[in-house]
Amino acid sequence: MEKPLLTGDGAPPLYRQIYLRLRAAIADGRLKAGDRVPSIRALASELNLARGTIELAYQLLINEGYLMGRGAAGTVVSPLIKSMPVPSESSSAPVPEYSLVHSGEPAQPFQMGLPALDAFPRKLWNRIASNELRNSFSDGAIYPDARGHSSLRRAVARYLGLSRGITCAPEQIFIVAGYRAALDLIGRSLLKPGDSCWMEDPGYFAARDFFQEAGATLVPVPVDSDGMVVEAAVESAPDARFAVVTPTHQSPLCVALSMPRRQALLEWANAKQSWIIEDDYDSEYRYHGRPLPALKSLDVHDRVLYCGTFSKVLLPGLRLAYLVVPEKLVPRFAELADKMQSHCPQLWQVTTARFIEEGHFGRHLKKMRNLYAHRRQLLAQALITRLEHRLVVDNQVGGMHLLARLDPDEDDREIFIRAKGAGLRVQALSRWYVKTPSVHGLLLGFTNVVDKAQASELVERLAQVIECEALPGNCSP
Ligand SMILES: Cc1ncc(COP(=O)(O)O)c(C=O)c1O
Repeated sequence: MEKPLLTGDGAPPLYRQIYLRLRAAIADGRLKAGDRVPSIRALASELNLARGTIELAYQLLINEGYLMGRGAAGTVVSPLIKSMPVPSESSSAPVPEYSLVHSGEPAQPFQMGLPALDAFPRKLWNRIASNELRNSFSDGAIYPDARGHSSLRRAVARYLGLSRGITCAPEQIFIVAGYRAALDLIGRSLLKPGDSCWMEDPGYFAARDFFQEAGATLVPVPVDSDGMVVEAAVESAPDARFAVVTPTHQSPLCVALSMPRRQALLEWANAKQSWIIEDDYDSEYRYHGRPLPALKSLDVHDRVLYCGTFSKVLLPGLRLAYLVVPEKLVPRFAELADKMQSHCPQLWQVTTARFIEEGHFGRHLKKMRNLYAHRRQLLAQALITRLEHRLVVDNQVGGMHLLARLDPDEDDREIFIRAKGAGLRVQALSRWYVKTPSVHGLLLGFTNVVDKAQASELVERLAQVIECEALPGNCSP
C-alpha cells in the first residue's frame, strides 16, 4: 500500500480505499491469480487500522470473486481471475450535451400548458389521497390492472358522457401516463412503419416527434381559422392511415375545427378505414360560446381514438391521461397494455377517481374556467396597453395560452432566445411549423398570472426583451 490513505471530509471510507487498491492491483496484474495477500492482522498493523476495516474490504473482494479464503493457508487472489481493466470510481468522460423539454425545473412566467398551481385544492387533494393510501393498501400492493384502475375508468366514462357527449363503456377506457403514452399504445397496436399520418401544421411537436420516431410518413396539413384544412389533406395523402387533430383548441393556434370539416374528416376516415386520433387536451377551458361536440361523440363508424389528459385540469405531475378506443379494438389494446406493464401510480388513480366521484372535479373545473377567463383578460389587457405597437393579441375562444401575432419581419425565435435569457418562457410560434409558411408570434401561458400588478410587471419585462434590439447595450436580461 504505497500511497497514504486519505482521511478527512469527503474522503471515501477507509475500507473502500483498501478495497479499491487491491482490486486495481489485481486488475493490472500486480497481484496475480493464486498470489497470497497479507493477513488481516498484518495489514491492519502495517496501516495502523482496526482489523474490522481490513476485514470489511477483504469480505467485499471475496464476495465479488476477486479473493478466496483458504483457511490456514490465508487469503489468495482467486485462481480463476485474469487481469483486466476495471471501471474507475470517477469517470472522467463528460456526459454528452443534450436538451430536454421538461427537466423538472420550477415553473417560469408565461410557461404554456401549466394549470394555475396556486389554485389547486391541495388540502382537499391531500386528504383524499391520505384516505386512499390507508384504505386501498392491498389494492395497490399487487400487480395492478394495466388498463387502469376500474374506479377511474368508470369515473372517466361517466365524466365523458356528461361533459363531452361521448358514450363509452369503462372497458373502452385505458388509463395511461400522459398523451405520449396514449400514442405509444396506439402506435404499438395499429401503426406500421411507413404508414402516412396527417399532422396539423403548425402542430404539437410531441405528437409529431412520436410519429416520426415510430417510422410513420408525416403529412403536414395547413391550419386556417377553421382548423385543419381537411380538403388539402385529402388531396395530398388520401390514403393516409392516421389523422392526428386537436379539434377543440388547435395546438397552438387555439382555433376550433369547424363542423363541416369535422364531418369531412369522419367521412374520409370511414371511406378509407383510417384512424382519427382526437387530442382533446384542454377542451374544458372555453371562455365564450358553447364548444362544438367532440369528434368522438359524432363517430358513428368507430374510427376515432379519443385522448384526454388530467395534466391541464388537475396537475401534469400526476402523469394521468386516458384513451378511449372503439369496442372492436379493446382486446388488442388490452393485451398490449398488459404486455407493456407501464402503469400509472395506483394512488393517483384512486385519488382522482374519488375526486371526480365526490363532485370536486366538476366544481374545480368551474372555478378554473372563471379564474382563467379573468387571468387571460389580465394578460391580454397588459399586452395591449404596453405592446400594442408591436403585437396583436388573438381573441380565441379557449385554451390556456394567448397568441400574440408579430409582424412577419419580427424574428420571434430571436425574441424567444432573449426572453429565455431573461427568465421568461414565451414560445416562438414559427417554431411550431414544419412546411406551411410560418406565421411569427409569441405563445404566452396566462394561467399563473395572479393579478394586474404581476401582469404589468411581466409584460414590462417582455417589452424590454422585445425592444432591446432598438437599445443596444441596454439588453442585459
Ligand atoms: C397539444 C397537447 N396535447 C396533449 C397534451 C397533454 O400531454 P400530457 O398528457 O403528456 O401531459 C399537451 C400538453 O402540453 C398538449 O399541449
